[in-house]
Amino acid sequence: QTLRFDYSHACKFFEQTDLDQLAPEVLRSHIQLHQGTGAGSELRGWLDLPIKCEKSERERIVQAATRIQENSDVLLVIGIGGSYLGAKAALEMLGHHFTNLLPAGKRRVPEIYFVGNNISPVYLAHLLELLEGKEVSLNVISKSGTTMEPAIAFRLFRSWMEKKYGRPKARSRIYATTDRAKGALRQLAESEGYETFVIPEDVGGRFSILTPVGLLPIAVGGIDMDELMQGAADARERFLSPVLADNPCYQYAAVRNILYRRGKLIEVLVGYEPRFRFFAEWWKQLFAESEGKDNKGIFPVSAEYSTDLHSIGQYLQSGTRHLFETVLTVHKSDVDVTIGDDPANLDGLQYLSGKGMDFVRQKVLQGAMLAHVDGGVPNLVVEIPRLTAYHFGELVYFFEKACAISGYLLGVNPFDQPGVEAYKANMFALLGRPGFEKMKEELEARIRG
Ligand code: PA5
Repeated sequence: QTLRFDYSHACKFFEQTDLDQLAPEVLRSHIQLHQGTGAGSELRGWLDLPIKCEKSERERIVQAATRIQENSDVLLVIGIGGSYLGAKAALEMLGHHFTNLLPAGKRRVPEIYFVGNNISPVYLAHLLELLEGKEVSLNVISKSGTTMEPAIAFRLFRSWMEKKYGRPKARSRIYATTDRAKGALRQLAESEGYETFVIPEDVGGRFSILTPVGLLPIAVGGIDMDELMQGAADARERFLSPVLADNPCYQYAAVRNILYRRGKLIEVLVGYEPRFRFFAEWWKQLFAESEGKDNKGIFPVSAEYSTDLHSIGQYLQSGTRHLFETVLTVHKSDVDVTIGDDPANLDGLQYLSGKGMDFVRQKVLQGAMLAHVDGGVPNLVVEIPRLTAYHFGELVYFFEKACAISGYLLGVNPFDQPGVEAYKANMFALLGRPGFEKMKEELEARIRG
């Protein structure tokens, strides 16, 4: 049993000939990706990560994770964008919903908190409060080693750890994941003697979940890393075919490209599990940063049903018809809760007595999907058999590869992100970074109006 992609609920929104005509472009994109003739080819290392992660590196990750589990109540993970979303997605999707709130006796793994992905003083202050009296380890993650938000957080928490433990002991609790040679974090890690993990040079941030960026926090969270990598490795094999008809991953890329060409400019990733929330955040970054350039690209958003059926559901059903949905679902839940018997039936729900919540979930999913299709919203379905580390790995690889092919079909470089630099220059100038004085004056004049 493997991941399944179904586009039958989108078929009435395009012609079979659209797909036939796109098949040669898909083949060309496949060749660009696999032979390295496409834009950004120097960042294709993620393609083979599932089969290339060395045994010794995996062992080192497991050893570090075990040490953290044994000596820490809390792991702080510092990173932003691709340097945190993958790990957070896996931990939320595969861990206990309320893991950080479980009493220590019932929790198998340390509490894990992510920091350096926002600039909120309140968040930092509350987190510092929470750490009081706890044993803490820290994993700082930055490929460039120079990103401002995590660097500020690291400055703060490094100093907190040094005050708590003294500098030598703090050093043994800090793990740095960064480039092999470049960047301020690499320099700092070497001068302090932190244990380090390497982000391969040919893997970009948003494609780095299957490197130590994702794997170390995932392993600390008690998730079976080998199983996850096996799922990704099997997906690598399965989605290798250049033939559109044989490759569900390429079909997803092709269908979304056809829908885009037909004016469907927004893709809503729909989940029925609250624990998919951060997988959707990971997916949004993957597609938005990979495709949103040169004035092109589908705008990726996410929704959590049934909560959002009671809010944006109205728009989905009858608003502007410029969107499609991709429903991410699990064939069968591992856990179920049965609806009780109540012969008084004052709530009128007796017809559901004895049914499981998983049955309700399936029916709401089918009902909403058919209603939205009737309302003019094409629906795609990505289904995994069960919510396991193996299928998480499969999902990651499916979306990463689909994203690369989709980017090439769109005619963009899926591996760069020049657009995120513009705000940074303004931010540095306004914060007073040396070298930005003239720009600061200009921006401040604009702000004064
Ligand atoms: O996909 C990307 O490359 C980015 O989103 C990065 O992951 C993000 O900007 C963080 O960069 P870094 O890991 O260099 O701190």
